[in-house]
Parts: sequence; C-alpha cells; structure tokens
Amino acid sequence: MKRVPATFLPPITIDSRAKIPIHRQLYEWFRRAIVIGQMRPGQRVLSTRSLAAELKISRIPVLNAYEQLLAEGYFETFVGAGTCVAGSIPDDMARPTLGKGQKTFPEEIIRKVGLRRISRRAVALTHLPTQSWLNIVGAFRVSLPALDHFPLGVWSKLVARHSRKPAQGIMGYGDAMGYLPLREAIGEYLGAARAVRCDPSQIMVTTGSQQGLQLTAQVLVDPEDRVGIEEPGYPSARQAFLAAGAQLIPVPVDQEGMNVSEFIRHGPEARAVYITPSHQYPLGMTMSATRRMLLLNWAVRNGAWIIEDDYDSEYRFGSRPIASLQGLDTDARVIYVGTFSKVMFPALRLGYVVVPRDLLPAFCAARDAADVFSSTLYQLVMTDFIREGHFARHIRRMRMLYMERRRALVKAIRAQMGDSLEVIGAEAGMHLAALLPSGADDVAVSKAAARRGISATPLSTCYLRPQARTGLILGYGGTNAHQIHDGIRKLNLSLQGLRV
Ligand SMILES: Cc1ncc(COP(=O)(O)O)c(C=O)c1O
Repeated sequence: MKRVPATFLPPITIDSRAKIPIHRQLYEWFRRAIVIGQMRPGQRVLSTRSLAAELKISRIPVLNAYEQLLAEGYFETFVGAGTCVAGSIPDDMARPTLGKGQKTFPEEIIRKVGLRRISRRAVALTHLPTQSWLNIVGAFRVSLPALDHFPLGVWSKLVARHSRKPAQGIMGYGDAMGYLPLREAIGEYLGAARAVRCDPSQIMVTTGSQQGLQLTAQVLVDPEDRVGIEEPGYPSARQAFLAAGAQLIPVPVDQEGMNVSEFIRHGPEARAVYITPSHQYPLGMTMSATRRMLLLNWAVRNGAWIIEDDYDSEYRFGSRPIASLQGLDTDARVIYVGTFSKVMFPALRLGYVVVPRDLLPAFCAARDAADVFSSTLYQLVMTDFIREGHFARHIRRMRMLYMERRRALVKAIRAQMGDSLEVIGAEAGMHLAALLPSGADDVAVSKAAARRGISATPLSTCYLRPQARTGLILGYGGTNAHQIHDGIRKLNLSLQGLRV
C-alpha cells in the first residue's frame, strides 16, 4: 500500500496487490474526490509525470486514468495551465459529508437516502408492513405450490426445444400484448374453465399478475382517485394501487364477500374497486350473485371499473368452479387479472390481463413504458405446455393433492389445536385462514412460529384498520402430510409458549 500526501490533495491510496488495475483505482479516487467536493471546480491537478513520480508507479496508468476523466468531463486541460477539475462541475450542490469511520461514498448515500426527498407514493409504499421473518422456506408458506410435483422433465424438454434452435424472430423484440399463440391458448382455457368472454386480441401476457395489477392501476387511476379494496385483502394489490397514488377505501367482507352496499355508501364516486370474487383473499369466501350484480350495476352507472383478481380458481374441492364476474359483464367494465404463479410456479413470472377493447391502446402504451413485453422463451414453452395437454393434467393432479393436503391440515388443526385455531373459508385454493383466540397477537405468534421454522402469515397484515380478531394464513400447497403434522405441533407450541 502506498500513501502519498500531496500539498493540495488528500492522500491517494493505491493498492498494487488489488485485483482492480491501478489506472482504475486512480480514476475512482479522483472521481469520488470530485463528487464529494474534496476537489473543487477549476482546481489544478498534478501533471501525470509528477503524480507517477510521487506514487512511484509507471506513468502509463496515470495517463490512462486522466484520459478517462477527461473523456467523462471530470477534468479539462488548458494549454499552458495543465489539467484542472472541470469548471462546469456544480460547486454549490449540497454534498454528503463523510463522517468519522465512514469510508465509501455510495454507502454514505444509501444511509442518507431516507433523509432525502422521494415521492409521496414511494413513502406510502415503504410504510406498508414488511414480514421479513416469513422469508423462510418452512411449512405453510403462502402462495407456494407443490414444486416437487411439478413435471420438470417435460418442462425442461420444452425449454430445450425452444432454446436449442430458436425460431426466427424469437430472440428479438416481441409484442407488448404477448405471443399470439399463447394468448389464443389462454383465451380458450379461460372461456372453457372460467366462463370469461373475450378473444385473444384482448389478452395481454404480463410478468405475473402483480404487473397486471400495476398496469391496471396506472391506466385507470389518477393520483388521489379513490379505489375500493377488500378488508382484509391482498397486500400486493394494495401496493399496486398505492404506487399509482390512489386513496384506498377498505370495505369489510362477510360470508358473501365484499359488502357492496357498504362500499357504495362510502365511496359512490370511487374510480375503481379491486375484488377476489371467486375465492376471497385471504378469508376464502365466494362473492354472492346478488353482490356481483349490484357491483356491476354500480360500475355501469358511475362509469367506474372493477378489477377482478382470479388467482387460484383452478382449485375448488367441494363444488364446481365458480364462473368469473367478467363473464356477467355486458358493459366492458371488468378488467380480469390471472396468474400462472399458483398452477405452475411463481418464478415463471407469467400472468395475464383480459382488457376491455377500448382500453387496449392505453394498456399497450403503459406496457411499452414498463418492461415492453414478457420473456418470449417462457411464453413459447408455456404455449406448448398448454397445447400438449400437460397443463390440464398438472392441474388435475394438483387439485387432488391440494384437496388431500387441505383435509390433512384441517384434521391436524382440529386434533392438535382444538379451539385455539378456528378454520374459516371455502374448500378451495392453496391456503386457509384460521382465527386465533380473542386478544392473541398474531404477529407475535407468527414470529414465535418462524423461530421454529414455520411460516404462518399474520392475518392482521391483510387489514388496513385494527381488528378485534386476529388469525393466521396457512399455505398447504407446498407442505406435505408429514410437514403439516409436524408444523401444527410446532405452531401449537409457539402459541402455548406465548401464553405462559
Ligand atoms: C390474491 C392474489 N393474487 C395474485 C397472486 C399471484 O401473484 P403473482 O402472479 O404476481 O405471482 C397471489 C399470490 O399469492 C394472490 O394471493
């Protein structure tokens, strides 16, 4: 390590054993000194020859570093005056000061970011509750399918088929709406399985349903517009609408889903409403036909929009699949959002939105401004997966598996926890909600369970307002019979541990 104090410069530190070349170290040093204000505009720097001599290094890396700094506009040269810090670098900008023990500029910036001005929307997003303790791959993780039952052999053959010899155009830019054959396959599936009425031109393939919600919020909602959401509801939908600047109206749900009369009473002028009518997230009820009609009438009368999130309707165990709300809509007021995260796997990041025809140009423009289009390779693979029958077969198998897992979970809860956990919701999906005894702190229970390797989501995080009853959301899709039994035992111990 060589340290050379210069009369007008703070010490330059060069590490000749470092992997970073010396010219790069010099370049970084000068750039940082200029950015944080240690070197001022117009200030002269040593000639390359002098600096090389001071540092006892060859002149070549110094020349290279100066050349780069000149090219990027940090330095300028004048005949007769040598090299200086560029005079055009603003001198009056408020610069972070490096305190004692603070070594690098970027770390300092990151630490200070909370103090600097960011958008009100970003502030609202960062204030949403985080549940970092749930980031464990333990039993009951919500939204996790049975990944060990996924037909990886078939999937990898299809991936190889399309990546070994890509068809023409596949590696270039694609359509913002998505790969047409996939949209046709999705359209057929939605028509047959979900009674959705659309043609492929209305289907946009998205990067998961989260992007579908984000684009929908961006297209339909202006900052300060009011948007109804279910209480309790899906936290990520809340995020999407907050990110668009919406004012959220939490509307309670009961046995028939969202209480539509109450919503109309509180937010008659709302721009939009977000609902999960087939399988309310997280409580699990189905919205009644009367409420569906009431909501559609409200949307038509007020020129408002209904965002239908149909995220796991493939899995109903006790009854036939529930038809979509979109299929009842005669005035093109419903935006239907779906996902492959539950029926395939979340990392695929493929979802879809069925868009009313007149909104298509706005959705395309919003998509162009976002990530342009979804990965073409996975769209091609997904198309073959559906067309060759693997999709329908996988859903059939998973439906049986999840039905068994749900029954095993309910049985284990009843046998081991008795009245301490009250299961609610329909026999459907990949998760269930269960209420804790009055007064229990579900976040504390969830944290205690996480310490035993269990991922139980607190129900309270799905509410905007404080509630009298709390509970847990338990995913069983990715949790096998043994893990269910063991997981409920540990959950019970966690709850009891908090009581004593
Ligand atoms: C209500 C709801 N909608 C949508 C999704 C799927 O989201 P994505 O497609 O972004 O993975 C989930 C997953 O947990 C969900 O619970």
